[in-house]
Amino acid sequence: MHAITVPSPGGPEALVWAEVPDPEPGPGEVVVDVRASAVNRADLLQRQGHYPPPPGAPAYLGLECSGVISAVGPDVTDWRVGQEVCALLAGGGYAERVAVPAGQVLPVPAGVDLVDAAALPEVACTVWSNVVRLAGLRAGETLLVHGGGSGIGTFAIQLGVALGATVLVTARAAKHERLRELGAAHTIDYAGQDFVEEVRRVTDGRGADVVLDIMGASYLRQNVAALATGGRLMVIGLQGGRKGELDLNALMAKRATIGATTLRARPAAEKAAIVRGVRDEVWPLVEAGRIRPVVDRRMPMAEAAEAHRRVENSDHLGKVLLTTG
Ligand SMILES: NC(=O)c1ccc[n+]([C@@H]2O[C@H](COP(=O)([O-])OP(=O)(O)OC[C@H]3O[C@@H](n4cnc5c(N)ncnc54)[C@H](OP(=O)(O)O)[C@@H]3O)[C@@H](O)[C@H]2O)c1
Repeated sequence: MHAITVPSPGGPEALVWAEVPDPEPGPGEVVVDVRASAVNRADLLQRQGHYPPPPGAPAYLGLECSGVISAVGPDVTDWRVGQEVCALLAGGGYAERVAVPAGQVLPVPAGVDLVDAAALPEVACTVWSNVVRLAGLRAGETLLVHGGGSGIGTFAIQLGVALGATVLVTARAAKHERLRELGAAHTIDYAGQDFVEEVRRVTDGRGADVVLDIMGASYLRQNVAALATGGRLMVIGLQGGRKGELDLNALMAKRATIGATTLRARPAAEKAAIVRGVRDEVWPLVEAGRIRPVVDRRMPMAEAAEAHRRVENSDHLGKVLLTTG
């Protein structure tokens, strides 16, 4: 088969479409013939040599895929050859075939195109596990999503709205109109506006009940300032650095909580539990049309370098998909 390889780490030109050995399904695994994968921000880091795959994961880039099951390993009872699926991967999605633990496979939601389904697993699992399972977002609450135009952000807006929350987002101004169409009640230009002031203004001084943060250190103090009493801050990205300083009194005074998670390095059993939760709680919202994959564009996998440039420059809105054949 072919896969995108990275013979030596570097810029987008480091990505090379090359012939590699076919994967074999191990016990508890299925092999998916990939129709599409999607670019995640973490892929850019892996390409640069900063984010190696966890032990046992395929060496190639790609944290999610959609396609058709072509082989089933020993001990797999709930999937069969020929089924159309999408899957959460620890790596290996930028390829014509990938082996994946059966617990990380999801059916393609009814009403969603097979290729577009590749836009869902990573964002659905990340956003649901943080915003719903850990932060416990409830109807009537306010959710602040940083980077509303990202793959993560466009999904978080829709999930928040579907759960009955009011969603506020930060994003560059050019993306605001589309984010309001997706359901954001208020858009904040992070370059020209103070998001803490804006959040306070539109919540009559209360603040946000849940903040989904992708910036880390650079937003830590402001995120706590933007929280409501009893608020929950979930950090899932470190685009603004990893070491921050925090006045813990500000946290105590608000009886607030900070959590931080990554999805990729978790044991397969934890990923399978998240995937089950997504199937039970998120897939019905997708099938009801309340959450749609937000696809910026489809590009052939052999043009992965161009796709990476687009995401690196943040020219995209939602997910950039990489298709085979
Ligand atoms: N912890 C986990 O398990 C996990 C899983 C998946 C993703 N993530 C993280 O989630 C983040 C989003 O991932 P993705 O793949 O969806 O990324 P993406 O589509 O590449 O989006 C990155 C976003 O960052 C936004 N941004 C840049 N500077 C900003 C600032 N100062 N304030 C607010 N937003 C800013 C950009 O907004 P504009 O385009 O509007 O400038 C862009 O929408 C990444 O940090 C990624 O590492 C974490």
